[in-house]
Amino acid sequence: MVCGIIGITSSEDVLDKPLGVSLKEALKKLEYRGYDSVGFALIDKAGRLVVRKSKGMIDAVAAKVGFELFDGYTGIGHTRWATHGPPSDVNSHPHTDCSGKIAVAHNGIIENYMELKEALIDEGHTFISETDTEVIPHLIEEFEKKGFKPYEAFKKAVELLRGAYAIVAIDVNDPRKVFFARNTSPLVLGFGVKANFVASDAVAFLNFTRRVLALRDGEVGYITPEEVVVERLEFREGRPVWVAVDFTSRVKNIDWTVEMASKGGFKHFMLKEIHEQPYALASTIASAAESVDKLAKILTRVDRVLLAGAGTSYHAAYVAALLLRKYAGLWALPVVSSEAQWWLSTVKEGDVVLGISQSGETIDTLKAVREAKKRGALTVAVSNVIDSAIPRESDIAIYTKAGPEIGVAATKTFTTQVTLLGYLSLRTGVLNGFLSESEASEAFKSLRELPNLVRHAINTYEAKMASLAVEMKDRPNAYFLGRGLGLPLSMEGALKLKEIAYIHAEAYPAGESKHGPIALVEEGFPTIFTIVTADEGELIKSNVEEMRARGSLTIAVFPKNLEDIARLVKTPIKMPVVKDVAASALYIVPHQLLAYYTSVKKGLDPDKPRNLAKTVTVF
Ligand code: G6P
Repeated sequence: MVCGIIGITSSEDVLDKPLGVSLKEALKKLEYRGYDSVGFALIDKAGRLVVRKSKGMIDAVAAKVGFELFDGYTGIGHTRWATHGPPSDVNSHPHTDCSGKIAVAHNGIIENYMELKEALIDEGHTFISETDTEVIPHLIEEFEKKGFKPYEAFKKAVELLRGAYAIVAIDVNDPRKVFFARNTSPLVLGFGVKANFVASDAVAFLNFTRRVLALRDGEVGYITPEEVVVERLEFREGRPVWVAVDFTSRVKNIDWTVEMASKGGFKHFMLKEIHEQPYALASTIASAAESVDKLAKILTRVDRVLLAGAGTSYHAAYVAALLLRKYAGLWALPVVSSEAQWWLSTVKEGDVVLGISQSGETIDTLKAVREAKKRGALTVAVSNVIDSAIPRESDIAIYTKAGPEIGVAATKTFTTQVTLLGYLSLRTGVLNGFLSESEASEAFKSLRELPNLVRHAINTYEAKMASLAVEMKDRPNAYFLGRGLGLPLSMEGALKLKEIAYIHAEAYPAGESKHGPIALVEEGFPTIFTIVTADEGELIKSNVEEMRARGSLTIAVFPKNLEDIARLVKTPIKMPVVKDVAASALYIVPHQLLAYYTSVKKGLDPDKPRNLAKTVTVF
């Protein structure tokens, strides 16, 4: 996911080239992940810590800092994709402590970094970046000051971190070790000869070794050229104890090509990104608590909210408008960005306009934000790319933490947008008193469970959607029907199928389908229903009946306790019963998989659909 990490420890000169060069080559292999800054830290042969880093692409940064000039036996490298603080030299990783002896690179989000930072500042530590990561080297330094040895200090620091992370660290006080820790963000070890590796993706070290161990959540340890130690924290008689993990049976030989590995073993970026959703959601939820509160407070005082977006982001705006109405009692309206000007004409001071855009660059959405600003509304960007145009021009920016999305069809950015905005709706409802404590706590709980539910849904439905795709691939048309939250999800499902499988797919409010669309329905015409709540299910039953009576191939994605729906449709996709705020993200997963596999079964390239661009900067 976000950012690329490499750590190398070697003895003698087994790498055959300066360590700086090996780190650079490994970082090049991680380039596909998307990044805006590059850096490395190594302990040179004189035992000094060297750190070089800069905003920019690897080749440009290499020309500036000269990776080849630096050699040693222990080092770490990082490609950063900004999440806390804009891309800049100082925000690039690795980050160091006050003494300049410890360097840390990190992928993910430290949820509680603000409180840790404040405590460290009180202890006299000085911070120079805006990142959450910088607390880690200072924490290690603090524990070393208290008498802990470097590895013990590293573990002590990790014990204090909350959030999603993959971390590597080096320390001149223990110069042969690279420390590591994983929670949610991916991290793998590579076992070489007189050299060991740790990276966010095995592709980084495949030219040295193919013996790999995928670390699990909660595992912490270190590598030296000869030794690999993995531990996990367990509670014995109520006390936390670090215990050794026996990982021998988990070490695997992988036979990936570099090309396969650069997509993490997935055939396409889109499939990889569908599978990354649990991480993307966990990171977004981890950072939401801190990022949306200021906005939620503002929303308690406003009259009207307008949400503008294009394509998938419009569908997220639609879901969010319904959630803001339901959970915070707000008057909220979703608009397609390119149509926004006709709705913005009555917007004024006291209103809030959200520009929703994963890239932060879509010109229609930017224009809507500019127009809203001119009319005196408060403007809010909801983006996945820090410091992009829409966040830069808006009064407030909040971010999804999906990591770079390379496939043209948006997947993980949609589910994270819906989740972030769902979180915002709940917080606003709590603050303005619209939402009861008990309902709020149940809804927040469902969001915390969402990453696991999504992981489970992917595992459960991938094969089923691949076989349904065989039925879909030769059909020229499909209807996607829904009511309430099921409607924007239907629109998103139809868009996915249209974009990458080139099937004419139309979404309609289910109740509206009898006013025209049904004229086309005959034997075998696919109608795909999406039902998020029991209320929607109750109302939609008659629409399913109408389609069934005409021989339609009926498919439904719905909560599994709606037995009537299960009985009525030909292909039931039974989903976990979960609060609508979480279901709005969860129930799109089967649609993503169906579109993906239909595209693949038609022999198309889902990553590069014809005529479409990832970011549209023309009107
Ligand atoms: C293009 C992409 C879509 C995307 C839309 C809005 O049409 O192909 O996948 O949903 O732009 O992009 P944004 O970056 O503003 O979310």
